[in-house]
Amino acid sequence: MAFPVVDADYLKEIDKARRDLRALIAYKNCAPIMLRLAWHDAGTYDKSTKTGGPNGSIRNDEELAHGANSGLKIALSFCGQVSFRRFLGFSFPVALWIVELNVSSIALLEEVKAKRPKITYADLFQLAGVVAVEVTGGPTIDFVPGRKDSKVSPKEGRLPDAKQGINAFKVSSPHLKDVFYRMGLSDKEIVALSGGHTLGRAHPERSGFDGPWTKEPLKFDNSYFVELLKGETEGLLKLPTDNALLDDPAFRPFVELYAKDEDAFFKDYAAAHKRLSELGFTPASSASKATAKDGTVLAQSAVGVVVAAAVVILSYLYEVRKRA
Ligand code: HEM
Repeated sequence: MAFPVVDADYLKEIDKARRDLRALIAYKNCAPIMLRLAWHDAGTYDKSTKTGGPNGSIRNDEELAHGANSGLKIALSFCGQVSFRRFLGFSFPVALWIVELNVSSIALLEEVKAKRPKITYADLFQLAGVVAVEVTGGPTIDFVPGRKDSKVSPKEGRLPDAKQGINAFKVSSPHLKDVFYRMGLSDKEIVALSGGHTLGRAHPERSGFDGPWTKEPLKFDNSYFVELLKGETEGLLKLPTDNALLDDPAFRPFVELYAKDEDAFFKDYAAAHKRLSELGFTPASSASKATAKDGTVLAQSAVGVVVAAAVVILSYLYEVRKRA
């Protein structure tokens, strides 16, 4: 499929879609599943073969059927399906969750796509992830449109497996590194992005895990790291891959930093999220930067030619005057 033409009209549509998404996410309370959808579309990227990545392929039935994507399509009875019991004792706006959806995250986005057909699915899914973080109080993430759609889905198994945190020898397993390095992301980016679990929860019928990571799963803050360092807390979840962040000496310093410094987390998260959302995609702005750079080089060369010509003319005039 071709790249979309990112002209003034396209940018205007992106602005409108951003507003549509803010309203949709606020009304349906579905920021967590939107963020998960964006991440699962992007997180299949393989830098060595330049395949997968944020290209909208997650909408293909074949890819949606991958085990890791469970719940992204199935009908949701509540967006987030938070159990009442779990939140007794926490000051949690339970009423907010009582929103009947019976549609999937992708079906929700189809509503926006139908209104803004110009925008590619790839851009729409990534924009939904960015908006989900922003409307829940997280950092502003720079969004550059222009991703093209693909109907080709990668083979199953590119997304991380939550069970692979500590291996049989009780040693932190390299699984997270294997998966995220394949995308071209760093240790710092692995930890910052894991902070996405500040939103939402796990559902037993989807992943086999149960519960939220934080006491306020509709608020984007650094509490994922605070809770991680506290250890087991009744009612809160820690996946084996979450615990792996504590055990690995390359990861732990970032967990400690983000738990005590929310600004540092927001800054690193915004940068890492942008990189994730642009894996395998070169934003057109770099092309215009390249053009600007080329333009500068051209201008410099033109100045050089003018100076050289002036020197030749002046020497000629000097010679003529000398002879006269
Ligand atoms: C580090 C490796 C990761 C693993 C192993 C992992 C695994 C999981 C699992 C098992 C669930 C529960 C799914 C369910 O039962 O509904 C989940 C939910 C979620 N994940 Fe991750 N994840 C990872 C990274 C990320 C990243 C990088 C982000 C975003 C930047 C993210 C965002 C989310 C969100 C927002 C939810 C909640 C969805 C909801 O409430 O419906 N995850 N993840």
